Amino acid sequence: MSIEVKNLVKSFGTKVILDNISFRVNDGEILSIVGFSGSGKSTVLKLISGLLEKDSGEIITTGGDVAMVFQYSALFDSLNVFDNISFALRERKDLRNKYTKKELEKIVAEKLELVGLSGIETKYPSELSGGMQKRVSFARAIVTEPKIILYDEPTAGLDPISSTLIEDYIVRLKNETNAASIVVTHQMSTIRRTADSVLMLYNGHAVFKGSPEELCKEDTPYTKQFVEASLDGPMKMN
Ligand SMILES: Nc1ncnc2c1ncn2[C@@H]1O[C@H](COP(=O)(O)OP(=O)(O)O)[C@@H](O)[C@H]1O
Ligand SMILES: [Mg+2]
Repeated sequence: MSIEVKNLVKSFGTKVILDNISFRVNDGEILSIVGFSGSGKSTVLKLISGLLEKDSGEIITTGGDVAMVFQYSALFDSLNVFDNISFALRERKDLRNKYTKKELEKIVAEKLELVGLSGIETKYPSELSGGMQKRVSFARAIVTEPKIILYDEPTAGLDPISSTLIEDYIVRLKNETNAASIVVTHQMSTIRRTADSVLMLYNGHAVFKGSPEELCKEDTPYTKQFVEASLDGPMKMN
């Protein structure tokens, strides 16, 4: 067990965004969270990573860092790739001064290798394609050897080929780190290529939990509507 969420409740003002959500993600597994815009997907990630406080329920994570890969790569434009990736190791209070320059160079080179971008340490984000920026943000997220990796819409805004590459790296990072991962996405391709299980949120509730194969069977009104991207069905856009 690596992430266990039990009866999670979160409201903003009077609006209940998550109403009694439960799920678990084991080591070496990827859970995909899907649902309309505004269904609370990013909120789940922020609650697990501690950026937001829950109202009630339990979030149990096994020891170690939680890494968050944000929807937009969120690299520092004024820092080169080396400084971006090594940022936490150089600036975080508990890690600062732990590594020599040589050790940092080795760690950054290893992480870049993992995302297939060896040798780009001195480039700046503006010199990289969107997909490459994404992969640098992955390298930055895993620099502290996290046991939990949370990805917020990692393939949003990428063309299909770049998306496939990103999906393959998500699976590769899972295999290399044995981390428990959550991937928030809208894209069927991302679910098919990465997920071991799927959680669909609507109106604060988990309206589907199962494997990608079960999702694709379309044997509930919710899974049918999602897979067919249909306007008709139980889920209404506001
Ligand atoms: N910090 C916040 N304060 C108030 N409302 C918020 C805040 N963060 C998110 N919300 C609202 O909560 C709902 C869920 O947001 P979010 O988790 O970002 O959805 P998703 O990622 O599924 O698109 C939205 O209606 C959003 O407007
Ligand atoms: Mg979101």
